[in-house]
Amino acid sequence: MKVEKYAIIFGKNPELGLYELKAFSKRFKLGVRILEIRFYGPNKSFAIIQAKEEIEKKFKWLGGALKLVRIVGEGLDTIENLEYSKLFTVSLYGKEDWKAWRKLGSQVKAVFKRKDSSKFFKPANVYSMPSELILKGFPEVKDVVFLFVDKDRVLVGETIRITNPFELKKLDVERPIVRPTLSIPPRLARIMINLSEVRKGNVLDPFCGTGTILVELLLQGLIAYGSDISQERINDARKNIEWIRKEFRIKQNASLRVCDVRRLKKCFRTRFDAIITEPYMGRPLKTKPTREEAIKIAKQLDRLYYQAFESFSDVLKRNAKVVFVFPAFNLAEGGVYRRNRPWLEELGFKVEYSILDIDEKHRIGRDIYVIRY
Ligand SMILES: C[S@@+](CC[C@H](N)C(=O)[O-])C[C@H]1O[C@@H](n2cnc3c(N)ncnc32)[C@H](O)[C@@H]1O
Repeated sequence: MKVEKYAIIFGKNPELGLYELKAFSKRFKLGVRILEIRFYGPNKSFAIIQAKEEIEKKFKWLGGALKLVRIVGEGLDTIENLEYSKLFTVSLYGKEDWKAWRKLGSQVKAVFKRKDSSKFFKPANVYSMPSELILKGFPEVKDVVFLFVDKDRVLVGETIRITNPFELKKLDVERPIVRPTLSIPPRLARIMINLSEVRKGNVLDPFCGTGTILVELLLQGLIAYGSDISQERINDARKNIEWIRKEFRIKQNASLRVCDVRRLKKCFRTRFDAIITEPYMGRPLKTKPTREEAIKIAKQLDRLYYQAFESFSDVLKRNAKVVFVFPAFNLAEGGVYRRNRPWLEELGFKVEYSILDIDEKHRIGRDIYVIRY
């Protein structure tokens, strides 16, 4: 199989995006080798990778990435290697310099013009084309990408795939039951499924709420099981799933149960290949907690989580993965409180890694654990 050189442009949380990429590579056997990585902040960070061509087909399922760029070469001379396009635009990563942006655009135009007429499409105030704009003209408008790995080392490429922001938005806001405070964003559901590395088999979300994770599982052709302690949430999830099945013509359905997470054995006969979930994370906080308050809340929640994991061990296959969101707290005095959970080992679970996903302005954030049973 052909191996090519690409760049992946990460979204809001590049560190999480990188973990996802590694898991994604294992999940679909894409042979990703990371050659260089540059953290330049949200929506600006990237990795230069080698991967099997298959990544082009699978790319749309990568929740934490924005663009897949095919590298044509290193150094500005390699602009010559770009394929001609009548209309093009320019994206810079690793450099925010308007003059450089214009100049590079002119150079590209000069090369293209030797073939035929060509136009440099210049949106205002951006150094890198947002996917929304690219998609409107894609693939007629070529997005020529310059990746500055160092001050004077640049890779040249072109965007060949984009994770569709319109589809993700549709999943987020057009489904019948939207409860922003309760649900996780579709992009995150996608990321968590990749972190689980599950390729086929039965997947359970035992705190399914309005069903965001279940919807994503169905879209990806996995066998989805959901449960929640509340009948009302199960009704919500059912409505959302019905909607997605119609919108995206999905034959499979999810199996739903009203069930307390502590009694999974009673509710399901199935053994699961993975559990992917964001649990109940306590009552909404009005202000950022002090360290003391955070410890108190986390301790209380851990009682539920402990029982949840005990119950997971009743229904999981050996070696199955659990992707679980624990709460992390932005403290009033600054800093973040994350808890250690040695009891996981006692119950037979091994924490492979954990990644923080938290916004400065939020009171509670996510500490995403990837765990093996
Ligand atoms: C944070 S929400 C999950 C949101 C979901 N990931 C989504 O995007 O829609 C937590 C859910 O846990 C449920 N819950 C709380 N305690 C539970 C328990 N003991 N067993 C099962 N579900 C429980 C609540 O009803 C709520 O729907």
